[in-house]
Amino acid sequence: MKIRCSTFLNCHLLLFRLYFLSLLVFTFATTPEEDPSVIVSRFQKYLQINTAQPHPNYYEAADFILSQANSLSLHSQTLEFVEGKPTLLLKWPGSNPNLPSILLNSHTDVVPSEPHKWAHPPFDAHLDPNGDIYARGSQDMKCVGMQYLEAIRRLKASGFQPIRTVYLSFVPDEEIGGHDGAEKFADSDIFNKMNVGIVVDEGLASPNENYRVFYAERCPWWLVIKATGAPGHGAKLYDNTAMENLLKSIESVRRFRAAQFDLVKAGLKAEGEVTSVNMVFLKAGTPSPTGFVMNLQPSEAEAGFDIRVPPTADQESLEKRIAEEWAPASRNMTFTFKQKVSVHDKFGKPILTAADSSNPWWTLLEGAVKKANGKLGKPEIFPASTDARYFRKRGLPAIGFSPMANTPILLHDHNEFLNQAEYLKGIDMYESIIKAYASYVEHTRDGASREEL
Ligand SMILES: *[C@@H]1O[C@H](CO)[C@@H](O)[C@H](O)[C@H]1NC(C)=O
Ligand SMILES: [Zn+2]
Repeated sequence: MKIRCSTFLNCHLLLFRLYFLSLLVFTFATTPEEDPSVIVSRFQKYLQINTAQPHPNYYEAADFILSQANSLSLHSQTLEFVEGKPTLLLKWPGSNPNLPSILLNSHTDVVPSEPHKWAHPPFDAHLDPNGDIYARGSQDMKCVGMQYLEAIRRLKASGFQPIRTVYLSFVPDEEIGGHDGAEKFADSDIFNKMNVGIVVDEGLASPNENYRVFYAERCPWWLVIKATGAPGHGAKLYDNTAMENLLKSIESVRRFRAAQFDLVKAGLKAEGEVTSVNMVFLKAGTPSPTGFVMNLQPSEAEAGFDIRVPPTADQESLEKRIAEEWAPASRNMTFTFKQKVSVHDKFGKPILTAADSSNPWWTLLEGAVKKANGKLGKPEIFPASTDARYFRKRGLPAIGFSPMANTPILLHDHNEFLNQAEYLKGIDMYESIIKAYASYVEHTRDGASREEL
């Protein structure tokens, strides 16, 4: 039998075929990316790479990130400021390369763990029936690195075109100070040429429904004070021994510590807003084969303090306090700093990012999180240190944000985990943030885009 089709029918068949074909294309192009279990399994793969200090497997992580970059058609560059410590720099070029770019930073290393104290091995990335993914780095901060990539995957799939260039940096060594990672990267010519306008880096998990967001961090001052005094018999009462001189200082430090802590306890200040000081070592005494000589007052005594200074604090008054109360020369004391990070950036301004309407990047982030149905808590000062300081030091704005709500803070702890639903929600946040940032063009009254942002 011979069937003659009318043009009309042919047309319909063609349309039907096209429809079918597009359905097929659609299925093949999007289903594997949209399936949450596929997204989660990519996260698990990154978590399974053992990048724990002190022997992180950086090249395995680099290969994994490069394979992700290739699958997303992102430009990639492997920078080794120090041999064996690769920084991966990925680039999604914007349509206006003259506008300052966006940098999404994350670190690839994680802190060590004690596997026997974990419910699931720290590099298995075990997914339990509640949807919790157990792994070292699940919160700090492989989640964020992958969320950036997944957000870009979605934006690309949706056809979004960035106006500003978006860079992703995966840096080594954050957990040991970032000197061979973010610090060298931020000081490099390559970084200069990137013309970065805003940096996004890590934050902390939040046990409640509000995401935490950080606009600054406290600056570590590692202080060692040393007292000297005449040695003498352990039975003799006399003034100005090294021990007595040091104890007077310790008493003064403790009064200061208590006053700062009281502000936190009374709810007047957040943890990141006060200067914390904790004694971390005491070194004194004359060693003997069984311990210490018990009938001798030593001629030297030393103590070490980890001080964390918010950039909002008065640096000079603290310096004065140290010189006049904690280690005064009049009490035969000296002091040194093992580390002293300035509370000022290279322009002499407090090293912080404005978290108000004066900073468009802040406003955009706030709006983007809201748009993605996320809630932000009050902006905070990060209590410890992150790589963000190396970017803020250059006068750049940097916002710390790890989208993990309803999550116990387990960074550096046993059984670090992140729930897969929270992880996936975090991708929504970054999709919204990257979209807002990469589309942002400030127009002046004459319509020209301003480039100083
Ligand atoms: C400081 O050292 C000098 C010289 O050893 C001593 O005479 C003086 O009493 C000491 N002062 C204090 C406060 O320890
Ligand atoms: Zn971290």
